[in-house]
Amino acid sequence: MPSNKSLLVLPGDGIGPEVMGQVRRVVDWMDKRRAVSFDISEDLVGGAAIDAHGIPVTDATVEKAMGVDAVLLGAVGGPKWDSLDFSKKPERGLLRLRKDLQLYANLRPALCFEALVEASTLKPEVVAGLDIMIVRELTGGVYFGEPRGIETLPNGERRGVNTQVYTTSEIRRVAAVAFELARKRNGRVTSCEKANVMESGVLWREEVQKLHDESFQDVELSHMYADNAAMQLVRNPKQFDVIVTDNLFGDILSDEASMLTGSLGMLPSASLGDVDETGRRKAMYEPVHGSAPDIAGQGKANPVATVLSLAMALRYTFDLADDADLVEKAVEKVLAKGIRTADIQAPGSQVVSTGQMGDALLAELDAMAA
Ligand code: IPM
Ligand code: MG
Repeated sequence: MPSNKSLLVLPGDGIGPEVMGQVRRVVDWMDKRRAVSFDISEDLVGGAAIDAHGIPVTDATVEKAMGVDAVLLGAVGGPKWDSLDFSKKPERGLLRLRKDLQLYANLRPALCFEALVEASTLKPEVVAGLDIMIVRELTGGVYFGEPRGIETLPNGERRGVNTQVYTTSEIRRVAAVAFELARKRNGRVTSCEKANVMESGVLWREEVQKLHDESFQDVELSHMYADNAAMQLVRNPKQFDVIVTDNLFGDILSDEASMLTGSLGMLPSASLGDVDETGRRKAMYEPVHGSAPDIAGQGKANPVATVLSLAMALRYTFDLADDADLVEKAVEKVLAKGIRTADIQAPGSQVVSTGQMGDALLAELDAMAA
């Protein structure tokens, strides 16, 4: 069957290829059982691209990524490439994709599955029922700001420089995404910055407030210093609905939020750009976790975050909410049966490999579609 749904799969490094292998099985299942087919192509990114081409992502791969409906990425990086020059590291491939595709809004949901309440290091009553969405600005701030670099001063000392910089439009477009999401959720946005010490934070706060007053008065907006937000996330995370914040604070707060849910191995993410003339929104989906070189190749990795990233692609890019629901329900059912990869094991649970987790997910999908 010809398909107009195109997907570029970039497994990357470390556990990336293993977890992506399970996602491919889910995609194949959808093809067979749901008559939803995708044109899938696969390519290299990160260390894998360095080994093959000498750079962490080629122009041709970036071109491909621009042309498809959605990119699905595994993970990049590993000790093998740690000694490379900063500008040639695997991570630069990921950052280039984000930047060139202008994927400025990074959606990182932190949802605590009921079956995993005990897997969190926090008390069950603190995390049970948790459902927050972190919207991280992804193409600006200190990650990309100029000037940057390491220089040697005349006195022989070295000096490292990065620049935190945001413009009005960069702040407004990501804030708009957060407000729109809040409208479909519980109607509340918390904007986080450090306006007490940073001018870029003052601008962030003012612009978010302005946009709110102009166009989103139906949403409840509050502002919070990012350090306080870090504390509130472990004190009482359920006070949050949508959090919107800059690139660096978002990186940190989303890692913190992930642990509320039990494991970094559970969290998907979506990175979205603007809607173009054809109504299409460039998008890349990836797990929040990294390449986990310490367990790579051992069949221990949890594929759930990547499988849930596919579910986000179904929901946000392909408008297939029913299919996304199905995938998310399969995850829930597997967890409820006590089937766990090592990262989320609990007393009495059955610890399975990456592939066995894939088997269990497919069995649940089969059962639901029967
Ligand atoms: C993330 C990662 C990346 C980041 C790294 C791998 C460049 O930590 O996606 O959160 O810092 O953005
Ligand atoms: Mg991170």
